[in-house]
Amino acid sequence: MKKMQQVLDVRQLTMDFGGLRALDSIDLTVSQGEIAALIGPNGAGKTTFFNCITGVYEPTGGTMSAHPPGKAPVVLNRLKPNVITEHGLARTFQNIRLFQNMTVLENVMVARHCRTRSGIFGAVLRDAGTRREEQEMVDFSYRLLEDVGLEKHVNDLARELPYGAQRRLEIARALATEPFLLLLDEPAAGMNPRETRELDALITRIRDEKGVSILLIEHDMKLVMSISQSIFVMDYGRLIAQGSPREVAENPNVIKAYLGETFDA
Ligand SMILES: Nc1ncnc2c1ncn2[C@@H]1O[C@H](COP(=O)(O)OP(=O)(O)O)[C@@H](O)[C@H]1O
Ligand SMILES: [Mg+2]
Repeated sequence: MKKMQQVLDVRQLTMDFGGLRALDSIDLTVSQGEIAALIGPNGAGKTTFFNCITGVYEPTGGTMSAHPPGKAPVVLNRLKPNVITEHGLARTFQNIRLFQNMTVLENVMVARHCRTRSGIFGAVLRDAGTRREEQEMVDFSYRLLEDVGLEKHVNDLARELPYGAQRRLEIARALATEPFLLLLDEPAAGMNPRETRELDALITRIRDEKGVSILLIEHDMKLVMSISQSIFVMDYGRLIAQGSPREVAENPNVIKAYLGETFDA
């Protein structure tokens, strides 16, 4: 089988917080069009990994490069978060970060701004080009909200949405930046079983219909095992296993790290 092109290539990533090594020489790659998962017990370093590749933290060591399909590769080290977003990596947060007092539609439109041309001068002058761009932005944002099943809530305030819907709004906001790689930090956290099943379908549909590659941090093993092609397991900042869902579930290191938890996949 031909090796898929890699969209994310992280080598020997290390992150120290004072005396604590939160990431210890992590190698991780994501192939184009794949759903990959990063799992591990609380405090393993999963969110820190996302924070390094999205420019929130400057890692202590290692290289991180992105390969946007059809474009030149980009070294992510030392780039600012907004620049990394412009290069096509988008993320959601473990703790929901929405503009709670803006409408659902406004939340997506704000995120969309990184892909529009008429900046502050356009907004002041309100020329024809700016107005056209604004209308396109509304249409684009509305379609994204349809994609995530929130079209009935476009004019609701973000804070009025049930929890599961807020998580889907976060995903719509991330998609508004037109990423080639979507990073989801515990998207099913706090969801009920029905919401989790819908999320499972949504993530798969994003990959299939938009061709977006996905790297997912998730605790819900059932969700991880059912939708991922490749799984990376971390414990105490180290990568302790990687492979297909089956390989990982059978790996003795993984079973030991998760002692007491069940993989009812
Ligand atoms: N900004 C920070 N300063 C100091 N320690 C941190 C910081 N962020 C994370 N850590 C520590 O790094 C380790 C990994 O945390 P985290 O990446 O949030 O784990 P996970 O997402 O896997 O639960 C934890 O011990 C955490 O306390
Ligand atoms: Mg975390």
